[in-house]
Amino acid sequence: MNPELEERLKRFGQSHLLRFWDELSDPERARLIDQLERFDFGLIETLFSQAAADEHWEQLAEKAIVPPAITLDDFANANSYDKAYRIGTSALEAGKIGMILVAGGQGTRLGFDYPKGMFPIGPVSDRTLYQVHFEHVLGRSRQFGTTIPLYVMTSPPTHDETTRFLTEHDFFGIAPENVKIFCQGVMPAVDEHGKLLLEEKGKVFVSPDGHGGTLAALVNSGCLADAQQRGVEHLFYGQVDNPMIQICDPALIGYHLHSGSEMTSQVVRKNEPTQKVGNVVEVDGKVHIIEYSDLPEKYARQTNADGSLKLWAGSIAVHVFSVDFLQRSSDRADSLPFHRAIKKVAFLDDTGQRITPEQPNALKFERFIFDLLPFAENAIVCEVDPADGFCAVKNAPPAEAETPQHVKQAISDLHARWLSAAGVSVAPGVTVEISPLFAPDAATLKEKVDPGTTITRATYFK
Ligand code: UD1
Repeated sequence: MNPELEERLKRFGQSHLLRFWDELSDPERARLIDQLERFDFGLIETLFSQAAADEHWEQLAEKAIVPPAITLDDFANANSYDKAYRIGTSALEAGKIGMILVAGGQGTRLGFDYPKGMFPIGPVSDRTLYQVHFEHVLGRSRQFGTTIPLYVMTSPPTHDETTRFLTEHDFFGIAPENVKIFCQGVMPAVDEHGKLLLEEKGKVFVSPDGHGGTLAALVNSGCLADAQQRGVEHLFYGQVDNPMIQICDPALIGYHLHSGSEMTSQVVRKNEPTQKVGNVVEVDGKVHIIEYSDLPEKYARQTNADGSLKLWAGSIAVHVFSVDFLQRSSDRADSLPFHRAIKKVAFLDDTGQRITPEQPNALKFERFIFDLLPFAENAIVCEVDPADGFCAVKNAPPAEAETPQHVKQAISDLHARWLSAAGVSVAPGVTVEISPLFAPDAATLKEKVDPGTTITRATYFK
Protein backbone atom coordinates (compact mmCIF):
# COMPACT_ATOMS: atom_id res chain seq x y z
CA MET A 1 0.00 0.00 0.00
CA ASN A 2 1.21 3.45 -0.88
CA PRO A 3 1.99 5.12 2.52
CA GLU A 4 1.25 8.60 1.20
CA LEU A 5 -2.24 7.54 0.11
CA GLU A 6 -2.81 5.68 3.37
CA GLU A 7 -1.88 8.81 5.29
CA ARG A 8 -4.20 10.94 3.13
CA LEU A 9 -7.12 8.59 3.76
CA LYS A 10 -6.44 8.76 7.48
CA ARG A 11 -6.26 12.55 7.44
CA PHE A 12 -9.64 12.79 5.74
CA GLY A 13 -11.27 10.11 7.89
CA GLN A 14 -11.66 7.67 4.97
CA SER A 15 -9.45 4.77 6.12
CA HIS A 16 -12.50 2.46 6.16
CA LEU A 17 -12.15 2.25 2.37
CA LEU A 18 -9.20 -0.10 2.96
CA ARG A 19 -11.17 -2.29 5.38
CA PHE A 20 -11.17 -5.28 3.01
CA TRP A 21 -7.65 -4.72 1.63
CA ASP A 22 -6.36 -8.08 2.85
CA GLU A 23 -9.10 -9.92 0.96
CA LEU A 24 -8.39 -8.26 -2.38
CA SER A 25 -6.46 -9.78 -5.28
CA ASP A 26 -3.58 -7.80 -6.78
CA PRO A 27 -5.63 -6.49 -9.73
CA GLU A 28 -8.42 -5.47 -7.33
CA ARG A 29 -5.91 -3.64 -5.16
CA ALA A 30 -4.47 -1.86 -8.18
CA ARG A 31 -7.94 -0.80 -9.29
CA LEU A 32 -8.84 0.50 -5.83
CA ILE A 33 -5.62 2.52 -5.57
CA ASP A 34 -6.21 3.96 -9.02
CA GLN A 35 -9.72 5.01 -8.00
CA LEU A 36 -8.63 6.50 -4.66
CA GLU A 37 -5.81 8.47 -6.22
CA ARG A 38 -8.26 10.28 -8.46
CA PHE A 39 -10.45 11.60 -5.64
CA ASP A 40 -10.07 15.11 -4.31
CA PHE A 41 -10.79 14.30 -0.66
CA GLY A 42 -10.38 17.94 0.39
CA LEU A 43 -13.11 18.99 -2.05
CA ILE A 44 -15.41 16.19 -0.90
CA GLU A 45 -14.89 17.20 2.73
CA THR A 46 -15.68 20.83 1.91
CA LEU A 47 -18.79 19.89 -0.07
CA PHE A 48 -20.02 17.70 2.79
CA SER A 49 -19.35 20.19 5.57
CA GLN A 50 -20.60 23.27 3.72
CA ALA A 51 -23.84 24.43 5.20
CA ALA A 52 -26.44 23.38 2.63
CA ALA A 53 -26.60 26.03 -0.06
CA ASP A 54 -30.26 26.69 0.80
CA GLU A 55 -29.48 30.21 1.92
CA HIS A 56 -27.95 31.04 -1.45
CA TRP A 57 -31.07 29.92 -3.33
CA GLU A 58 -33.32 31.72 -0.86
CA GLN A 59 -31.43 34.97 -1.50
CA LEU A 60 -31.69 34.52 -5.25
CA ALA A 61 -35.37 33.54 -5.05
CA GLU A 62 -36.20 36.65 -3.02
CA LYS A 63 -35.02 38.92 -5.80
CA ALA A 64 -36.05 36.74 -8.72
CA ILE A 65 -38.25 37.90 -11.57
CA VAL A 66 -38.75 36.22 -14.94
CA PRO A 67 -36.52 37.73 -17.63
CA PRO A 68 -38.20 39.29 -20.65
CA ALA A 69 -38.88 36.32 -22.91
CA ILE A 70 -39.54 35.69 -26.56
CA THR A 71 -43.02 34.31 -26.10
CA LEU A 72 -45.42 32.19 -28.13
CA ASP A 73 -46.91 35.49 -29.39
CA ASP A 74 -43.56 36.39 -30.96
CA PHE A 75 -43.32 32.97 -32.57
CA ALA A 76 -46.88 33.46 -33.90
CA ASN A 77 -46.02 36.89 -35.30
CA ALA A 78 -45.12 36.30 -38.95
CA ASN A 79 -42.65 39.24 -39.17
CA SER A 80 -40.74 38.28 -36.07
CA TYR A 81 -40.82 34.53 -36.80
CA ASP A 82 -39.88 34.75 -40.49
CA LYS A 83 -36.89 36.94 -39.74
CA ALA A 84 -35.65 34.56 -37.02
CA TYR A 85 -36.31 31.56 -39.28
CA ARG A 86 -34.24 33.08 -42.10
CA ILE A 87 -31.32 33.88 -39.80
CA GLY A 88 -31.37 30.38 -38.32
CA THR A 89 -31.65 28.75 -41.73
CA SER A 90 -28.59 30.62 -43.04
CA ALA A 91 -26.53 29.48 -40.06
CA LEU A 92 -27.64 25.87 -40.56
CA GLU A 93 -26.93 25.97 -44.29
CA ALA A 94 -23.49 27.40 -43.60
CA GLY A 95 -22.65 24.44 -41.32
CA LYS A 96 -22.36 26.64 -38.23
CA ILE A 97 -24.58 24.52 -35.99
CA GLY A 98 -23.79 21.30 -34.12
CA MET A 99 -25.78 19.28 -31.58
CA ILE A 100 -24.95 18.02 -28.09
CA LEU A 101 -27.13 15.27 -26.65
CA VAL A 102 -26.56 14.51 -22.97
CA ALA A 103 -27.19 10.92 -22.07
CA GLY A 104 -25.06 10.28 -19.02
CA GLY A 105 -27.86 9.84 -16.47
CA GLN A 106 -28.83 6.37 -15.37
CA GLY A 107 -32.61 6.64 -15.57
CA THR A 108 -33.05 5.11 -12.13
CA ARG A 109 -36.56 6.55 -11.77
CA LEU A 110 -37.61 4.83 -15.01
CA GLY A 111 -36.47 1.45 -13.69
CA PHE A 112 -34.83 0.60 -17.03
CA ASP A 113 -31.66 -1.49 -16.84
CA TYR A 114 -29.99 -0.08 -19.96
CA PRO A 115 -28.84 3.42 -20.90
CA LYS A 116 -31.97 5.58 -21.11
CA GLY A 117 -31.35 6.36 -24.78
CA MET A 118 -32.09 2.69 -25.55
CA PHE A 119 -35.62 3.02 -24.20
CA PRO A 120 -38.29 2.33 -26.90
CA ILE A 121 -40.54 5.38 -27.21
CA GLY A 122 -41.94 5.54 -30.77
CA PRO A 123 -45.73 5.23 -30.29
CA VAL A 124 -46.13 3.14 -33.46
CA SER A 125 -42.56 2.30 -34.48
CA ASP A 126 -41.12 1.47 -31.04
CA ARG A 127 -38.03 3.47 -32.05
CA THR A 128 -35.64 4.11 -29.17
CA LEU A 129 -34.93 7.58 -27.81
CA TYR A 130 -31.53 7.43 -29.53
CA GLN A 131 -33.09 6.60 -32.89
CA VAL A 132 -35.59 9.46 -32.55
CA HIS A 133 -32.85 12.00 -31.83
CA PHE A 134 -30.36 10.68 -34.39
CA GLU A 135 -32.99 10.67 -37.14
CA HIS A 136 -33.99 14.19 -36.17
CA VAL A 137 -30.42 15.42 -36.55
CA LEU A 138 -30.14 13.59 -39.87
CA GLY A 139 -33.53 14.91 -41.03
CA ARG A 140 -32.47 18.48 -40.25
CA SER A 141 -29.11 17.98 -42.00
CA ARG A 142 -30.92 16.86 -45.14
CA GLN A 143 -33.53 19.62 -44.86
CA PHE A 144 -30.82 22.29 -44.90
CA GLY A 145 -28.33 20.49 -47.15
CA THR A 146 -25.74 20.60 -44.41
CA THR A 147 -23.86 18.50 -41.89
CA ILE A 148 -24.84 18.79 -38.24
CA PRO A 149 -22.19 17.01 -36.18
CA LEU A 150 -23.65 15.21 -33.18
CA TYR A 151 -21.80 15.03 -29.86
CA VAL A 152 -23.28 12.47 -27.47
CA MET A 153 -22.28 12.62 -23.83
CA THR A 154 -22.31 9.37 -21.89
CA SER A 155 -21.01 8.52 -18.42
CA PRO A 156 -18.88 5.59 -17.22
CA PRO A 157 -22.00 3.49 -16.39
CA THR A 158 -23.58 4.11 -19.83
CA HIS A 159 -20.58 4.56 -22.13
CA ASP A 160 -19.69 1.08 -23.38
CA GLU A 161 -23.25 -0.09 -23.88
CA THR A 162 -24.22 3.14 -25.66
CA THR A 163 -21.21 2.95 -27.97
CA ARG A 164 -21.95 -0.67 -28.82
CA PHE A 165 -25.64 0.02 -29.42
CA LEU A 166 -25.06 3.05 -31.63
CA THR A 167 -22.31 1.32 -33.61
CA GLU A 168 -24.46 -1.77 -34.15
CA HIS A 169 -27.20 0.47 -35.54
CA ASP A 170 -24.82 2.36 -37.83
CA PHE A 171 -25.59 5.58 -35.96
CA PHE A 172 -29.07 5.44 -37.45
CA GLY A 173 -27.83 6.71 -40.78
CA ILE A 174 -25.51 9.53 -39.67
CA ALA A 175 -22.02 9.15 -41.16
CA PRO A 176 -19.76 7.81 -38.36
CA GLU A 177 -17.31 10.71 -38.76
CA ASN A 178 -20.13 13.07 -37.80
CA VAL A 179 -20.92 11.38 -34.48
CA LYS A 180 -18.62 11.77 -31.47
CA ILE A 181 -19.37 9.94 -28.25
CA PHE A 182 -17.64 11.41 -25.21
CA CYS A 183 -17.73 10.42 -21.56
CA GLN A 184 -18.30 12.63 -18.53
CA GLY A 185 -16.62 12.26 -15.13
CA VAL A 186 -17.82 10.79 -11.84
CA MET A 187 -18.04 11.80 -8.18
CA PRO A 188 -18.21 9.65 -5.05
CA ALA A 189 -21.19 9.95 -2.68
CA VAL A 190 -20.91 10.21 1.12
CA ASP A 191 -23.00 8.96 4.02
CA GLU A 192 -24.41 11.09 6.83
CA HIS A 193 -20.96 11.26 8.45
CA GLY A 194 -19.17 12.32 5.29
CA LYS A 195 -17.71 8.83 4.66
CA LEU A 196 -17.39 7.53 1.12
CA LEU A 197 -19.30 4.32 0.42
CA LEU A 198 -17.92 1.00 -0.79
CA GLU A 199 -19.89 -0.61 -3.61
CA GLU A 200 -17.67 -3.70 -3.61
CA LYS A 201 -14.81 -4.67 -1.31
CA GLY A 202 -12.36 -3.12 -3.73
CA LYS A 203 -14.52 -0.44 -5.33
CA VAL A 204 -15.82 2.89 -4.10
CA PHE A 205 -19.33 3.89 -5.20
CA VAL A 206 -19.29 6.72 -7.76
CA SER A 207 -21.96 8.23 -9.99
CA PRO A 208 -21.93 10.68 -12.92
CA ASP A 209 -20.89 14.20 -11.89
CA GLY A 210 -23.99 15.89 -13.36
CA HIS A 211 -24.38 17.37 -16.81
CA GLY A 212 -22.26 20.29 -15.60
CA GLY A 213 -19.56 17.73 -16.38
CA THR A 214 -20.34 18.36 -20.05
CA LEU A 215 -18.09 21.37 -20.19
CA ALA A 216 -14.93 19.70 -18.92
CA ALA A 217 -15.73 16.53 -20.89
CA LEU A 218 -16.27 18.48 -24.14
CA VAL A 219 -12.87 20.06 -23.76
CA ASN A 220 -10.96 16.99 -22.51
CA SER A 221 -12.39 14.73 -25.21
CA GLY A 222 -11.39 17.14 -27.98
CA CYS A 223 -15.03 17.54 -29.04
CA LEU A 224 -15.04 21.31 -28.57
CA ALA A 225 -11.91 21.55 -30.72
CA ASP A 226 -13.56 19.26 -33.28
CA ALA A 227 -16.55 21.62 -33.48
CA GLN A 228 -14.24 24.60 -33.91
CA GLN A 229 -12.28 22.88 -36.66
CA ARG A 230 -15.50 22.21 -38.52
CA GLY A 231 -16.48 25.87 -38.32
CA VAL A 232 -19.35 25.14 -35.92
CA GLU A 233 -20.13 28.36 -34.04
CA HIS A 234 -23.15 27.33 -31.96
CA LEU A 235 -24.17 24.10 -30.27
CA PHE A 236 -27.80 23.11 -29.81
CA TYR A 237 -28.11 21.17 -26.52
CA GLY A 238 -30.79 18.72 -25.40
CA GLN A 239 -31.38 15.84 -23.00
CA VAL A 240 -31.90 12.31 -24.23
CA ASP A 241 -35.10 11.88 -22.22
CA ASN A 242 -37.21 14.35 -24.26
CA PRO A 243 -38.05 12.87 -27.70
CA MET A 244 -40.03 16.01 -28.58
CA ILE A 245 -37.07 18.42 -28.64
CA GLN A 246 -37.40 20.63 -31.71
CA ILE A 247 -33.85 19.77 -32.63
CA CYS A 248 -31.98 22.61 -34.35
CA ASP A 249 -35.19 24.61 -34.77
CA PRO A 250 -34.19 27.39 -37.20
CA ALA A 251 -36.35 30.03 -35.48
CA LEU A 252 -34.90 29.33 -32.03
CA ILE A 253 -31.39 29.49 -33.48
CA GLY A 254 -32.38 32.69 -35.31
CA TYR A 255 -33.54 34.44 -32.14
CA HIS A 256 -30.35 33.32 -30.40
CA LEU A 257 -28.16 34.73 -33.18
CA HIS A 258 -30.14 37.90 -33.70
CA SER A 259 -29.87 38.89 -30.05
CA GLY A 260 -26.16 38.08 -29.85
CA SER A 261 -26.96 35.62 -27.07
CA GLU A 262 -24.18 33.40 -25.77
CA MET A 263 -26.64 31.02 -24.16
CA THR A 264 -30.32 30.70 -25.00
CA SER A 265 -32.79 28.63 -23.01
CA GLN A 266 -36.14 27.26 -24.06
CA VAL A 267 -38.91 27.42 -21.45
CA VAL A 268 -42.51 26.36 -20.95
CA ARG A 269 -45.20 28.00 -18.85
CA LYS A 270 -45.20 25.81 -15.72
CA ASN A 271 -48.36 23.73 -15.37
CA GLU A 272 -48.23 24.01 -11.58
CA PRO A 273 -46.11 26.06 -9.17
CA THR A 274 -44.01 23.10 -8.07
CA GLN A 275 -43.65 21.37 -11.45
CA LYS A 276 -40.35 19.47 -11.51
CA VAL A 277 -38.52 21.79 -13.86
CA GLY A 278 -35.75 24.32 -13.33
CA ASN A 279 -37.04 27.88 -12.78
CA VAL A 280 -35.60 30.37 -15.25
CA VAL A 281 -35.25 33.69 -13.46
CA GLU A 282 -33.46 37.01 -13.63
CA VAL A 283 -31.62 38.40 -10.64
CA ASP A 284 -29.74 41.71 -10.83
CA GLY A 285 -29.82 41.64 -14.62
CA LYS A 286 -28.41 38.12 -14.94
CA VAL A 287 -30.30 35.01 -15.99
CA HIS A 288 -30.14 32.02 -13.63
CA ILE A 289 -31.90 28.68 -13.34
CA ILE A 290 -33.00 27.72 -9.85
CA GLU A 291 -33.58 23.98 -9.88
CA TYR A 292 -37.00 22.86 -8.60
CA SER A 293 -35.37 21.05 -5.70
CA ASP A 294 -33.55 24.24 -4.66
CA LEU A 295 -36.51 26.67 -4.85
CA PRO A 296 -38.33 27.13 -1.53
CA GLU A 297 -42.02 26.42 -2.07
CA LYS A 298 -43.22 29.84 -0.90
CA TYR A 299 -41.35 31.44 -3.82
CA ALA A 300 -42.59 28.82 -6.29
CA ARG A 301 -46.15 29.70 -5.30
CA GLN A 302 -45.87 33.52 -5.59
CA THR A 303 -48.45 35.08 -7.90
CA ASN A 304 -48.87 38.38 -9.75
CA ALA A 305 -51.78 40.76 -9.10
CA ASP A 306 -53.85 38.96 -11.77
CA GLY A 307 -53.34 35.61 -10.05
CA SER A 308 -50.88 34.28 -12.64
CA LEU A 309 -47.72 32.54 -11.50
CA LYS A 310 -44.83 34.96 -10.89
CA LEU A 311 -42.01 32.51 -11.65
CA TRP A 312 -43.74 30.96 -14.64
CA ALA A 313 -40.80 29.97 -16.82
CA GLY A 314 -39.83 26.32 -16.53
CA SER A 315 -36.62 25.13 -18.17
CA ILE A 316 -36.99 22.18 -20.53
CA ALA A 317 -33.21 21.81 -20.61
CA VAL A 318 -32.91 22.84 -24.24
CA HIS A 319 -30.21 25.46 -24.78
CA VAL A 320 -28.18 26.97 -27.59
CA PHE A 321 -24.56 27.77 -26.66
CA SER A 322 -22.08 29.85 -28.54
CA VAL A 323 -18.91 27.82 -28.99
CA ASP A 324 -16.79 30.86 -28.08
CA PHE A 325 -18.69 31.11 -24.81
CA LEU A 326 -18.07 27.43 -24.02
CA GLN A 327 -14.40 27.87 -24.86
CA ARG A 328 -14.15 30.93 -22.61
CA SER A 329 -16.07 29.12 -19.86
CA SER A 330 -13.87 26.05 -19.98
CA ASP A 331 -11.52 27.78 -17.54
CA ARG A 332 -14.49 27.91 -15.22
CA ALA A 333 -15.41 24.22 -15.64
CA ASP A 334 -13.84 23.46 -12.28
CA SER A 335 -15.56 26.27 -10.48
CA LEU A 336 -19.16 25.47 -11.41
CA PRO A 337 -20.83 24.85 -8.04
CA PHE A 338 -21.80 21.37 -6.90
CA HIS A 339 -25.45 20.78 -5.99
CA ARG A 340 -26.25 18.25 -3.28
CA ALA A 341 -28.98 15.64 -3.54
CA ILE A 342 -29.91 13.00 -0.97
CA LYS A 343 -30.39 9.66 -2.74
CA LYS A 344 -30.60 5.93 -2.01
CA VAL A 345 -27.25 4.23 -2.54
CA ALA A 346 -26.57 0.54 -1.86
CA PHE A 347 -23.28 -0.07 0.02
CA LEU A 348 -21.22 -2.63 1.94
CA ASP A 349 -21.39 -2.38 5.72
CA ASP A 350 -18.47 -3.00 8.11
CA THR A 351 -18.95 -6.75 7.83
CA GLY A 352 -18.97 -6.72 4.02
CA GLN A 353 -22.71 -7.28 3.78
CA ARG A 354 -24.53 -5.43 1.02
CA ILE A 355 -27.18 -3.05 2.35
CA THR A 356 -29.93 -1.78 0.04
CA PRO A 357 -31.44 1.14 1.93
CA GLU A 358 -35.18 1.80 2.02
CA GLN A 359 -34.63 5.48 2.68
CA PRO A 360 -32.21 7.97 1.08
CA ASN A 361 -28.87 7.50 2.85
CA ALA A 362 -26.26 9.29 0.78
CA LEU A 363 -25.32 12.74 -0.45
CA LYS A 364 -24.52 12.90 -4.16
CA PHE A 365 -22.77 15.88 -5.72
CA GLU A 366 -23.59 17.10 -9.23
CA ARG A 367 -22.72 20.09 -11.35
CA PHE A 368 -25.36 21.59 -13.64
CA ILE A 369 -24.52 23.03 -17.05
CA PHE A 370 -27.11 25.75 -16.63
CA ASP A 371 -25.05 27.36 -13.86
CA LEU A 372 -23.13 28.91 -16.76
CA LEU A 373 -26.14 31.12 -17.55
CA PRO A 374 -25.27 34.13 -15.35
CA PHE A 375 -21.89 34.35 -17.09
CA ALA A 376 -23.37 34.48 -20.61
CA GLU A 377 -23.67 37.80 -22.41
CA ASN A 378 -27.16 38.70 -23.67
CA ALA A 379 -28.68 35.40 -22.52
CA ILE A 380 -32.23 35.08 -23.81
CA VAL A 381 -35.22 32.93 -22.99
CA CYS A 382 -37.65 31.57 -25.61
CA GLU A 383 -41.04 30.05 -24.84
CA VAL A 384 -42.31 26.86 -26.44
CA ASP A 385 -45.72 25.23 -26.10
CA PRO A 386 -45.07 21.95 -24.25
CA ALA A 387 -47.44 20.21 -26.66
CA ASP A 388 -44.94 21.07 -29.41
CA GLY A 389 -41.64 20.50 -27.70
CA PHE A 390 -41.60 19.00 -24.24
CA CYS A 391 -42.63 15.67 -22.84
CA ALA A 392 -39.75 13.85 -21.20
CA VAL A 393 -39.79 10.26 -20.08
CA LYS A 394 -38.72 10.13 -16.44
CA ASN A 395 -40.92 7.77 -14.45
CA ALA A 396 -42.18 4.20 -14.52
CA PRO A 397 -45.93 3.62 -14.21
CA PRO A 398 -48.01 4.01 -12.09
CA ALA A 399 -46.55 7.54 -11.75
CA GLU A 400 -48.98 10.25 -12.70
CA ALA A 401 -46.75 12.10 -15.13
CA GLU A 402 -43.79 11.69 -17.45
CA THR A 403 -44.30 7.94 -17.95
CA PRO A 404 -43.64 6.23 -21.32
CA GLN A 405 -47.40 6.14 -21.94
CA HIS A 406 -47.74 9.92 -21.51
CA VAL A 407 -44.82 10.57 -23.82
CA LYS A 408 -46.09 8.24 -26.57
CA GLN A 409 -49.49 9.91 -26.42
CA ALA A 410 -47.89 13.38 -26.62
CA ILE A 411 -45.88 12.38 -29.72
CA SER A 412 -48.95 10.93 -31.44
CA ASP A 413 -51.06 14.01 -30.55
CA LEU A 414 -48.42 16.36 -31.95
CA HIS A 415 -48.10 14.42 -35.19
CA ALA A 416 -51.90 14.20 -35.53
CA ARG A 417 -51.98 18.02 -35.30
CA TRP A 418 -49.28 18.31 -38.00
CA LEU A 419 -51.34 15.99 -40.21
CA SER A 420 -54.51 17.91 -39.54
CA ALA A 421 -52.73 21.18 -40.48
CA ALA A 422 -51.76 19.46 -43.74
CA GLY A 423 -55.41 18.57 -44.38
CA VAL A 424 -55.20 14.92 -43.31
CA SER A 425 -57.55 13.84 -40.54
CA VAL A 426 -56.77 11.20 -38.00
CA ALA A 427 -59.71 9.16 -36.69
CA PRO A 428 -60.23 9.46 -32.91
CA GLY A 429 -58.10 7.10 -30.86
CA VAL A 430 -55.76 6.29 -33.78
CA THR A 431 -52.03 6.53 -33.09
CA VAL A 432 -49.74 8.20 -35.60
CA GLU A 433 -46.02 8.86 -35.75
CA ILE A 434 -43.85 10.70 -38.24
CA SER A 435 -40.17 9.99 -38.66
CA PRO A 436 -38.07 13.17 -38.97
CA LEU A 437 -36.59 11.51 -42.07
CA PHE A 438 -40.07 11.74 -43.62
CA ALA A 439 -40.70 15.26 -42.32
CA PRO A 440 -38.74 17.03 -39.58
CA ASP A 441 -41.49 19.63 -39.06
CA ALA A 442 -45.10 20.49 -39.84
CA ALA A 443 -44.25 22.70 -42.82
CA THR A 444 -42.28 19.93 -44.57
CA LEU A 445 -45.06 17.45 -43.89
CA LYS A 446 -47.54 19.66 -45.75
CA GLU A 447 -45.57 19.18 -48.97
CA LYS A 448 -45.53 15.40 -48.59
CA VAL A 449 -49.08 14.24 -47.83
CA ASP A 450 -52.32 14.32 -49.80
CA PRO A 451 -54.91 16.53 -48.16
CA GLY A 452 -58.46 15.22 -47.85
CA THR A 453 -57.55 11.72 -46.64
CA THR A 454 -58.36 10.13 -43.28
CA ILE A 455 -56.12 7.81 -41.29
CA THR A 456 -58.07 5.03 -39.63
CA ARG A 457 -55.37 2.75 -38.24
CA ALA A 458 -52.00 3.14 -36.48
CA THR A 459 -49.62 4.60 -39.05
CA TYR A 460 -45.90 5.36 -39.07
CA PHE A 461 -44.72 7.75 -41.77
CA LYS A 462 -41.09 6.94 -42.55
C1 UD1 B 1 -33.83 18.09 -15.57
C2 UD1 B 1 -33.32 19.48 -15.23
C3 UD1 B 1 -34.47 20.42 -14.97
C4 UD1 B 1 -35.34 20.43 -16.20
C5 UD1 B 1 -35.82 19.03 -16.54
C6 UD1 B 1 -36.56 19.01 -17.85
C7 UD1 B 1 -31.25 19.06 -14.15
C8 UD1 B 1 -30.45 19.04 -12.93
N1 UD1 B 1 -32.48 19.39 -14.06
O1 UD1 B 1 -34.45 17.57 -14.41
O2 UD1 B 1 -34.02 21.74 -14.69
O3 UD1 B 1 -36.43 21.27 -15.97
O4 UD1 B 1 -34.70 18.14 -16.68
O5 UD1 B 1 -36.88 17.72 -18.22
O6 UD1 B 1 -30.77 18.78 -15.21
N2 UD1 B 1 -27.56 13.68 -17.20
C9 UD1 B 1 -26.28 13.46 -17.61
N3 UD1 B 1 -25.31 13.31 -16.67
C10 UD1 B 1 -25.57 13.40 -15.34
C11 UD1 B 1 -26.89 13.63 -14.91
C12 UD1 B 1 -27.87 13.77 -15.87
O7 UD1 B 1 -26.00 13.37 -18.81
O8 UD1 B 1 -24.63 13.27 -14.56
C13 UD1 B 1 -28.61 13.81 -18.21
C14 UD1 B 1 -29.56 12.63 -18.16
O9 UD1 B 1 -29.18 11.61 -19.04
C15 UD1 B 1 -30.85 13.26 -18.60
C16 UD1 B 1 -30.73 14.70 -18.12
O10 UD1 B 1 -29.37 14.95 -17.90
O11 UD1 B 1 -30.96 13.27 -19.99
C17 UD1 B 1 -31.62 15.04 -16.93
O12 UD1 B 1 -31.10 14.59 -15.75
P1 UD1 B 1 -31.96 14.39 -14.43
O13 UD1 B 1 -30.98 14.32 -13.32
O14 UD1 B 1 -32.89 13.25 -14.60
O15 UD1 B 1 -32.75 15.77 -14.25
P2 UD1 B 1 -34.32 16.01 -14.04
O16 UD1 B 1 -34.67 15.89 -12.61
O17 UD1 B 1 -35.06 15.21 -15.00
